[in-house]
Amino acid sequence: TPAPTVSKAKLGFNSIAGSKTDAVSVPEGYSAQVLAPWGQPLTDRASAWQADGSNNAVDQENAMGMHHDGLHFFPLNDSGSDGLLCVNHEYIDQNALHPTGSDADANGVRSSVDQIRKEINAHGVAVVRIQLQDNGQWKVVDNDPLNRRYTGATTMDISGPLAYSDKLATPFSPDGSQARGTLNNCGNGYTPWGTYLTCEENWPGYFINTGTITDDQERIGISTSGTGRYGWETLAGNAEERVDEFSRFNVTPSGSSAMDDYRNEANGHGFIVEIDPYTANSRAVKRTALGRFRHEGCTFGKLVAGQPISFYSGHDSRFEYMYKFVSAAAWDPADANASDRLAMGDKYMDEGTLYVAKFDADGVGSWLPLSMDGATQDGGSLSDHFDSLEDIILNTAGAADLVGATPMDRPEWCAVDPITGAVYLTLTNNTRRNETTGTNPANPRLNNKFGHVIRWDEGDSVNEFTWDIFVFGSDANGDAATNLSGLNEFNQFASPDGLSFDQRGILWIQTDNGASEVTSYTNDQMLAVVPSTITDDEGNLDTINADNQGELRRFFVGPNGCEVTGFTITPDYTTMFVSIQHPGNWPYSSNAAEATPAGVNIRPRAALVAIRKNDGSPLGV
Ligand code: FEO
Ligand code: CA
Ligand code: CA
Ligand code: CA
Repeated sequence: TPAPTVSKAKLGFNSIAGSKTDAVSVPEGYSAQVLAPWGQPLTDRASAWQADGSNNAVDQENAMGMHHDGLHFFPLNDSGSDGLLCVNHEYIDQNALHPTGSDADANGVRSSVDQIRKEINAHGVAVVRIQLQDNGQWKVVDNDPLNRRYTGATTMDISGPLAYSDKLATPFSPDGSQARGTLNNCGNGYTPWGTYLTCEENWPGYFINTGTITDDQERIGISTSGTGRYGWETLAGNAEERVDEFSRFNVTPSGSSAMDDYRNEANGHGFIVEIDPYTANSRAVKRTALGRFRHEGCTFGKLVAGQPISFYSGHDSRFEYMYKFVSAAAWDPADANASDRLAMGDKYMDEGTLYVAKFDADGVGSWLPLSMDGATQDGGSLSDHFDSLEDIILNTAGAADLVGATPMDRPEWCAVDPITGAVYLTLTNNTRRNETTGTNPANPRLNNKFGHVIRWDEGDSVNEFTWDIFVFGSDANGDAATNLSGLNEFNQFASPDGLSFDQRGILWIQTDNGASEVTSYTNDQMLAVVPSTITDDEGNLDTINADNQGELRRFFVGPNGCEVTGFTITPDYTTMFVSIQHPGNWPYSSNAAEATPAGVNIRPRAALVAIRKNDGSPLGV
């Protein structure tokens, strides 16, 4: 039987109004529950979360981290009323984390080793078992053997082309086979064989090099002055054993070789990291073949037995690029049930070809290979500029410059339509696109403060695709040149960021702040649309326009100050989980005095929300 080309899903809720309150908004007939906020213990090794900020680094290492972001649900039964959530913890709010905020001592400098460890431990990933109770509420299973944290300090394996490279050799891992920690885990992915992918996004800011900077460090933007993002390297401590724990974030060469300092420490960051949630104590693996940049997410393309698997990942920074990794191995559906899941990662994610996207004016695009023989714009090949594939990967963005990739308006999340196979990508905004930088067909707006969603169809060629722009962000009052998709009050949005399809073919679009024309009307939000049903008179896929824009509906609005990010849904479609990141006060505004005792900082808590229909039926439809 031929594959369906149109989803049967039909949105079954009315678009909700925007809101600007310390609460979440959902359609009529739906409820949202707060679940697994920052600081909630995962094991008995953590003390209960304290509203005065007094929890220590060991508590934080055994509890939910801060600033929840990408997530995925891994079921432990058929319906998905029992399962594991993997949750990213992107970054931290020092004011909420510590009793007296970022000014932890009289000099305004944190002097406590425990405070630095707490900050590092609040980053990374949580794996937490959750269960749906008879009352329709989810609960965290305390002390489940699979509950665990991966932090900014956890030992991880390096796999793929950079494994055992001397470029990754450090005093901690002289053979270059391991790195410590994962940082700034923003978007996520998952694999067909049941593992989680966490993506290292704004990691360059955590490192500093005040000496001779390397080409890759300069290209990616490692700072040459000041301090790292949270100044961890400035608190090396006195005890010898602490020195490399924190000073590793200072990658300035100081000795005569890589064994004398941490010049290579940052080279172990900037990757897609694979975690097997179902196996306790399994080590996370950094998959270097997928490139080294500010990975926002990682999404596999439509699976075809006997064909390679594609993984898409955007580099979220202004004028950066969109990448695709194509596996050398052909997909074998039996591998979906493999018991050694990380061996499947070895099979499909360590060998293959990395490409970067070029979007041409005629709606056609091409994937440019970042291999040694990849053609450069000057008529040569990347082998004229790099000594090895390892060197190309280490400076992925620099290689992409040379082949002529298209500079984009901040590639964020990517999602693949399970019905059509089309790939959708959020381009969140780029207010620095101006007359000097110019526009290009895929990024056509100067001062692009509202962002857009682009999509492409791979067709039959691994090197070519066709593309169009699915929807442009705008406020409802935007003029014709701005409101290109004809949005109204009930679906105006700016800064699309999180993006996910569920397997019914519903596309969920989440926003991260954005233009004041929209934020004056509503907090960050989540919208839904069924793209395979958006067709023109000839039945071809259409873009969002004034005639069909009502098919794009607002489903959820977050509390004040937050970003709505991360999406996952249970196999029976009855519960959706999203992250509420960096809320301003929530979830305490209704009882702020209780949560924020007199004299201490307000401690808003990033958390998940579990969204369900009150009657327990599949949501969205
Ligand atoms: Fe952390 Fe690109 O959003
Ligand atoms: Ca994001
Ligand atoms: Ca963002
Ligand atoms: Ca964020």
